[in-house]
Amino acid sequence: MLSTRFGVDRHASYLAGLAHDMCRELSFEAQEHLVDIYGSCIAFLHGRQSLQVLFSDIEYKKKMLHGPASACMLCHEFNVKEQDILEAVALHSIADEMMSDIAKIVYISDKLEPLRHRPQDADEKLHTLDLESLFVYTLGCVVQWFSSSGKPLSPFTAHLYSRILKE
Ligand SMILES: [Fe+2]
Repeated sequence: MLSTRFGVDRHASYLAGLAHDMCRELSFEAQEHLVDIYGSCIAFLHGRQSLQVLFSDIEYKKKMLHGPASACMLCHEFNVKEQDILEAVALHSIADEMMSDIAKIVYISDKLEPLRHRPQDADEKLHTLDLESLFVYTLGCVVQWFSSSGKPLSPFTAHLYSRILKE
């Protein structure tokens, strides 16, 4: 389990993992409504460029709004107030370099889950890399998937990956 390996609260990671897609099947309008009425739940994230980009680009907003909407529902309807958990849920589609360890773990687990098409070395990387390297590896996998599938990747995520590689 990644949370154990990286010394992160496993209950918090488990809850974030469980909740991250809970609004994915709602209509876009319902997701928007949740964010409109319970947006104060994620107000602490409003300075984050990733979230601003997510809200401002309608094409990607339609694909990624289920993250912020799930965070708002988790906070308002299930009374979860821990910022690390809400951040992990809200940003699990777009990612950014300021994410907490829990948010990185949820991002990695979501993108490298066994049911996804993933590189042959994914299991080895999951067991050997440190958290930061695993996060960068995962971003690389995401960039690769989008490129090979021909689907459009959020420019923010693409830039994030190139920025990190240059560091
Ligand atoms: Fe998702």
